Amino acid sequence: MPRTTTSNLMEKIVSLCKRRGFIYPSSEIYGGVEGLWDLGPLGALIKQNLRDFWIKRFILEEENIVLIDGACLMHPKVWEASGHLEHFTDPLVECKNCHFRFRADYMADGRFVGQGQAKEKNQCPNCGAKEFTPSRMFNLMFKTFLGPVEDKAHQTYLRPETAQSMFTNFQNVLNSTRLKIPFGIAQIGRSFRNEITTGDFIFRSREFDIAEIEYFVEPGQDEKYFEIWLDKWEKLFLDLGLKKGNLRRYEHPKESLAHYSKRTVDIEYKFPFGWAELAGVANRTDFDLRRHSKFSGQDLSYYDEAKKRKYYPFVIEPTMGLERAILAILIDAYREILGGRTKTTKATKEVEILLKLDKKIAPIKVAVLSLVRNKPELVKKAKEVYQILKPHFVCQYDELGSIGRRYRRVDEIGCPWAITIDFDTLKDDTVTLRDRDTMIQERVKIKDLIEVLKERLEK
Ligand code: GAP
Repeated sequence: MPRTTTSNLMEKIVSLCKRRGFIYPSSEIYGGVEGLWDLGPLGALIKQNLRDFWIKRFILEEENIVLIDGACLMHPKVWEASGHLEHFTDPLVECKNCHFRFRADYMADGRFVGQGQAKEKNQCPNCGAKEFTPSRMFNLMFKTFLGPVEDKAHQTYLRPETAQSMFTNFQNVLNSTRLKIPFGIAQIGRSFRNEITTGDFIFRSREFDIAEIEYFVEPGQDEKYFEIWLDKWEKLFLDLGLKKGNLRRYEHPKESLAHYSKRTVDIEYKFPFGWAELAGVANRTDFDLRRHSKFSGQDLSYYDEAKKRKYYPFVIEPTMGLERAILAILIDAYREILGGRTKTTKATKEVEILLKLDKKIAPIKVAVLSLVRNKPELVKKAKEVYQILKPHFVCQYDELGSIGRRYRRVDEIGCPWAITIDFDTLKDDTVTLRDRDTMIQERVKIKDLIEVLKERLEK
């Protein structure tokens, strides 16, 4: 099946991710499954770091936002009320020649050109034929059944966004927390979309995590809070280390707004395959609370004690996909240095890969290396240092290959610091601490290592 776009840089990222354990194709031993990916040991750590950073920024540092963790399966009426049953669709066509199915809008806008067999617009990306079934709207929600009876009455859907449980729990959260407007409910969780056309590695998958906030405000205050959240959301990506020049805003024209939105601005990233949505901020108005009130018969309005009035709050929703953010972070951090960076030995023709990950996102914070591996006293000391640091930082111990090769291996996974145990260590209990980006090495006493590293991590 063709991918929508490819590029040399994307191929390198995909290859690095698999080789070093960031991301693997899901179920690969059975040939893989389109649009499904597994995070490997390093990818899982990056995602955890991203979640931690997000929670610190929006739950710990903000004053009035609470975190919930809702179920992925919900009452089927939720999706009627939310409008997803009716509107969460993409146009699907089938090629009359090879029966390949794909998104009609992608074919029409030329996204397949140069991919597979498509040389021009309106050609099947799989075989190049030009005759298709009429386009029909395909609902992207995955259907499933609650309980053992597989009939319409027991049918429900895997959630395509996390937002809805933040609306259905609006009164529960109000009653149990006594929060007052403006306040936010936040959630990070799995979301499922049966995308017709997947591709561009993890950019468009069928299962991914969304991190989003529903921020409830008084009607009339929504436009002000929209601007505030757009700035905060963009800053998040800058603070994750993405280059400013690789980010831009895209204002959705009125005619392309989702059924619930009064205004949506995407934060786009310059991916190797072009500018594309990384995250977004939407003004969902009072659409969801009103609809759930109507469909459930429960009143989800808010009584503003200070103003002595009742209203349905408006909702500002900043949203982002974690996997998309990880992809942007990896692309932004990726560097190739022809001949390598070392000044002490002659440049080789090899290409050195350096992943300049922000230290809070880097999966492994410290690598512990023994200068050589055939000196048992050095290896013993290196393992001791590793054991000292391991409870405090995500560490890696590596003794395979020359020290130069090992530095390259840690640079390639974006590890910010490498500690080397050498012959001087045996004399004075100091080690070299090497900085990934500057390659500056300094001597630090083993007893000071934890403090020095903690200080640098927090800087
Ligand atoms: N609650 C609003 C909402 O779900 P969305 O723009 O449809 O908005 C939120 O999705 C975020 O999820 C997007 O900004 C994007 O980062 C990510 N996303 C959407 N579809 C995706 C897919 N198929 N694969 C990976 N990430 C996706």
